[in-house]
Amino acid sequence: MIPLKLTTRNDRGPALLLVHGFPLDHRIWQPQIEKLPFSIRLFVPDLRGCGASPLPPGPCGIDDYARDLLGLMNEQRVDRFYVAGHSMGGYIVFSLLRQAAGRILGAALVSSRALPDTEEGRRTREAVARRAELEGPGFLADSMPAKAVGDAPPAGVLDALRTIMSQAQPAGAAAAARAMAGRVDSTPGLARISCPVVVLAGRQDKIVPAAESEAMASGIPGARLVWCERSGHVPMLEEADLVTRELGALVR
Ligand code: MLT
Repeated sequence: MIPLKLTTRNDRGPALLLVHGFPLDHRIWQPQIEKLPFSIRLFVPDLRGCGASPLPPGPCGIDDYARDLLGLMNEQRVDRFYVAGHSMGGYIVFSLLRQAAGRILGAALVSSRALPDTEEGRRTREAVARRAELEGPGFLADSMPAKAVGDAPPAGVLDALRTIMSQAQPAGAAAAARAMAGRVDSTPGLARISCPVVVLAGRQDKIVPAAESEAMASGIPGARLVWCERSGHVPMLEEADLVTRELGALVR
């Protein structure tokens, strides 16, 4: 069992697990940690090799991140829970739904997608992984924040992204890039998802095209698609109140 760094708050109420994306850590959910009602029991881990969580030796795929989270919730004695995944965190939510659908009460997919990488995308991931191993995360912190936000991000968002990305663990970022490259196509399973789902998509997202968000939402029975009109790829920070409200509504 990997000792994941976990941020929690109160210990009562329905459980909500917040899963961060790449190359990030739990701090990307800071506005939600502060503003979600205290009637919700929050679990906000750093994934293996991210933030303050160790990266164990050996293979690391999207299913391994999901298994870590199931182990974490077991350890916390939480059987059934809600889950929100941002981008790579959404890929992990799909794996949770494949591995333990009966434990998931509802899911939010934030700026995420069901399709796998293209061949070209996989080659780019490998180049990113090698560069992270050789140079550290500085190049990610220099290049990714501007791509991750919409036209007019609120004050502080770019700096927050730079700070988190510049502190990413080189080996953890490399492992995550390779895990994303190896992820399976989640599209065939969409029609079998039976819990309530909300898809939150940034209208100005330069990483996940709008058409992919629409196709994903329409493939999941009963899923609601919510557009974050002023957001790029990180609506949790760009339209924090909207995302907080939607997560609160999912749990209610
Ligand atoms: C993320 O935000 O987790 C990544 O941008 C996802 C991706 O590159 O596919």
